[in-house]
Amino acid sequence: MHNNDSNSGRAQDNIRIVVLISGGGSNLQAIIDNCQSGVIECQSGFIKSQTGFIENQPGIIESQSETVGTQSSHNVTRVSASIELVISNRPGVYGLERSKQAGIDSLCIDHKQYPSREDFDAALITAIKSTKPDLVVLSGFMRILTPEFVNNFHGRLLNIHPSLLPKYPGLHTHQRAIEAGDSEAGVTVHFVTAELDGGPAIIQARVPVLKNDDADALAARVLEQEHKIYPTAISWFAEGRLSLTNGKAMLDNEILPPQGFDYQG
Ligand code: GAR
Repeated sequence: MHNNDSNSGRAQDNIRIVVLISGGGSNLQAIIDNCQSGVIECQSGFIKSQTGFIENQPGIIESQSETVGTQSSHNVTRVSASIELVISNRPGVYGLERSKQAGIDSLCIDHKQYPSREDFDAALITAIKSTKPDLVVLSGFMRILTPEFVNNFHGRLLNIHPSLLPKYPGLHTHQRAIEAGDSEAGVTVHFVTAELDGGPAIIQARVPVLKNDDADALAARVLEQEHKIYPTAISWFAEGRLSLTNGKAMLDNEILPPQGFDYQG
């Protein structure tokens, strides 16, 4: 269906982002904070060197306009990113308040007002497309999407999921990790495909599961990492370094490993 190159992977002057939420929006806040002044910033970007990935300095995201040899020899251009619209499927959530405080357009499309999943997704598609987005970011958006929705934004639709995918797709990820006796848990950012939480992974961060952890304690530890890796993945996309090509997540023209880039924050 979608075997060829996606629209992503190309640096543009400004990347227009739509963010979909269902709740408190702490990941939205991390993205807002990293898009301030219209220039996406990242706590820890990565530059690819001949010997592998090396950590970039904190600061404004700069994209490489030529193949990178060493850190000192690459050309850089700034890429700006703007959140054009935030959409919640639930009324009254704090994420909508965060958008308002940041001066970002927001709206609620309440899924309960639609007779079917298809009707709700059609309304969502129309609202998103009106902003002509380059990237659609699911940020704690707790809805299963129709294939129609996913196909509309193929290659420019990202999700964050609080587990080390492919482990624990779906709900209650932290409780399931604890009950399984896992020694580590984490979070994955991935491209969205029709398979629930099953699209190609882009980046993962790991945290230890501690002896007395309950689901809330573990969730809080994972969330700290979420706030780092989502802006990182978005900055890669904005720089034109990240794409979904022939069904594979690619960074700097190389296929990422099945579990994505291993983030060491
Ligand atoms: C985050 O932990 C995110 O990973 C999770 O919902 C939370 C939203 O928090 N997403 C999923 O479970 C999607 N399957 P936030 O509203 O504070 O960003």
